[in-house]
Amino acid sequence: MGANRFLDPGSASARLFEEARRFIPGGTSKANFDVRPHPFYFVSGHGCRVLDADGVERLDALNNFTALIHGHAFEPVTRRVSEQLARGTAFAASTPEEIALARLLVDRVPGVEQIRFGNSGTEAVMMAIKAARAFTGRDRIAKFEGAYHGYYDDVQVSFNSGPGNWGSPEEPASVPSSGGVPKHRVLETLVLPWNDTEATERLLTRFRNEVAAVLVDPLANRMGFIPPAPGFLDHLRRVTRSLGILVIFDEVISFRVSYGGAQERYGGEPDLTAFGKIIGGGFPVGATGGRADVMAVFDPTTDGPRIASGGTFSANPVSMTAGLATLAALDRDGFARLEAMGARLRAGLGAVLATSGVPGVVMGDTSLFRFVMTADAPRTYRDTVEPVAGRRLSRLFMHMLDAGVLIGANGLGCLSTPMGDREIDEIVEAAGRALHALRREA
Ligand SMILES: Cc1ncc(COP(=O)(O)O)c(C=O)c1O
Repeated sequence: MGANRFLDPGSASARLFEEARRFIPGGTSKANFDVRPHPFYFVSGHGCRVLDADGVERLDALNNFTALIHGHAFEPVTRRVSEQLARGTAFAASTPEEIALARLLVDRVPGVEQIRFGNSGTEAVMMAIKAARAFTGRDRIAKFEGAYHGYYDDVQVSFNSGPGNWGSPEEPASVPSSGGVPKHRVLETLVLPWNDTEATERLLTRFRNEVAAVLVDPLANRMGFIPPAPGFLDHLRRVTRSLGILVIFDEVISFRVSYGGAQERYGGEPDLTAFGKIIGGGFPVGATGGRADVMAVFDPTTDGPRIASGGTFSANPVSMTAGLATLAALDRDGFARLEAMGARLRAGLGAVLATSGVPGVVMGDTSLFRFVMTADAPRTYRDTVEPVAGRRLSRLFMHMLDAGVLIGANGLGCLSTPMGDREIDEIVEAAGRALHALRREA
């Protein structure tokens, strides 16, 4: 029998779900596992292993949606956080831990001269957008089709559009990707086609006096990790500079790709950057950093357009301490090791896919990977939206779970530092078994 015991009607997960759905819509506050007839529940995690409520341990190749770069219960984090818990968890003023994490990020990330903390990636993107608006005096935001940036109204646009509503490839329609977003907010967001230099320049030029910033995830997960085409980010930077439009990088996931983040690896010279996930070391966090003159909009002591901001738990010393312990344990050699492991993993997965008879490719860079179950590597978000490929991906996810490896239901996966060659082989072997099972279903 495989590992998917949670699917049994009498499983602990089934019982938890029955209880959970009385109090929580759908039985979960987590968004991404739409598993029928019920989701699974986790009870603990150590290193790169996670235990579900039915006593099944799996290799965790998702790491809380890429947020845990050292896996679960990383000793330097648990030790430093325990010490911090004894000293207090939240105060009405800043702490030295906040300053230390700010300094570390400013030192590491090329485009960050000043930084300010919040509690989630969504909040970080929101702060960056507000900063861009206050600084430029313009209202509209541009984003790329297929890219997910959290659940602030302005960006819940065109990350899951489809052939029925997405408009022309050169001028993608602005489509709501969620209920609850006011129509005028959706229409205010300008949607751009990724890696299409000419169309992007044309659209930005047309709306030159209205657009405050272009939001860019240089390695966008929901888009299928399609990397920036050579010269695309440089061109975007030249065009935006000439039009007085700011560039915001969303590095909530892609900060993971190197010591200095995605901007160090791919270039692009953003004015502002949104962070989240790994910089909190497993605790809730978000941060917005960038050029000092733009970040000055958050400074209550200066004149000019100011943003009223600040959250009750922003920069709490627990998240700051966990983030510090996490990043301090990741030097350039640590990133190089993750990068080499990721290359080995993607090569291994590519090889099993090629011999499996199942159409599919593996995308990603450094410690990030993603299955896209189309015959050829996608060049645009639209290439990834194929109903058959989507169904294949859902089945692959379930078979991977059954083979003992957790990835995202959308094919997303990532590595953590407790993994080594043995775990890479384990993921590749599990994928081989999962693809075999998938092939037999066809
Ligand atoms: C690229 C990107 N931006 C923003 C967010 C939102 O972050 P959070 O879930 O912490 O609000 C996410 C979340 O997955 C993300 O992947």
